Amino acid sequence: MADEYIDFSTGLKRLTGIDLGSYKRQQMERRIRSYVDRMPVSGLAEFLRLIEKSQEELDTFLDRITINVSELYRNPEQYETLRTKVVPELRAANPIRVWSAGCSYGAEAFTVACMLSEELGGTAHFEIVGSDIDRRVVHRAERGFFSDADMRSVPAKVRERWFERQDSGFQAREQLKHHLRFRREDLLHDRFQNGWDLVLCRNVVIYFTDKARDQVHQGLAKVLRPGGYLMVGSTERVADPHAIGLEPAYPFIYRKVA
Ligand SMILES: C[S@@+](CC[C@H](N)C(=O)[O-])C[C@H]1O[C@@H](n2cnc3c(N)ncnc32)[C@H](O)[C@@H]1O
Repeated sequence: MADEYIDFSTGLKRLTGIDLGSYKRQQMERRIRSYVDRMPVSGLAEFLRLIEKSQEELDTFLDRITINVSELYRNPEQYETLRTKVVPELRAANPIRVWSAGCSYGAEAFTVACMLSEELGGTAHFEIVGSDIDRRVVHRAERGFFSDADMRSVPAKVRERWFERQDSGFQAREQLKHHLRFRREDLLHDRFQNGWDLVLCRNVVIYFTDKARDQVHQGLAKVLRPGGYLMVGSTERVADPHAIGLEPAYPFIYRKVA
């Protein structure tokens, strides 16, 4: 029997390289259908023809189906572990290289930038790269502008030092921004860059099939430098850390075996 979701997935992959087959089908199909139901088309096949013709429709669609929820200092207890246990060890690296994989609009990457600046001093040598499959959030991240809601867990003294208050939110200051770069990257498709001291991949692979999730974790483990750390989300875990050269170090944090 024809499966229009599979046909749609094949078309989308041809068009964008994005592989819906690596995402949990039930969740993703529900999200896509509820979006398409509100469009002036008869179904997925006609919707595919629409996004084939219009880059703007395609971008809006991708923006809606990727879940970009984030905020600075999301799950503060995780960052506290990072600050007290991992950052002291990272000091030895020069520069310290951090990757926020699936960074959404940059809140996680900016949080790490605040933390390293606070802990190591403003002149510390570190680079943070944020990447996401969704081009629109990558552009947002580059601006470094965050709403009041995004900033609600940021300690006041950190907020005052590294951000400037504006009418509708907070703008990251240049001293913080210059540590950060953002790029579009598909964790299921693109080759990973090598040599990271810390990789954060939080609340991203929860939408992936188990197989895709394990592949991503394996790929991330590979590009960590020996002794480097991988931090996952507060509801996640690496299925078999030892099999991919990692060892559990702290809650939700794994160390690459040297
Ligand atoms: C819920 S946000 C997580 C943001 C941040 N890591 C956090 O925990 O606050 C999930 C992000 O994963 C991104 N994403 C989904 N599939 C991806 C893929 N294949 N490659 C890279 N990013 C992906 C989405 O676009 C979205 O911005």
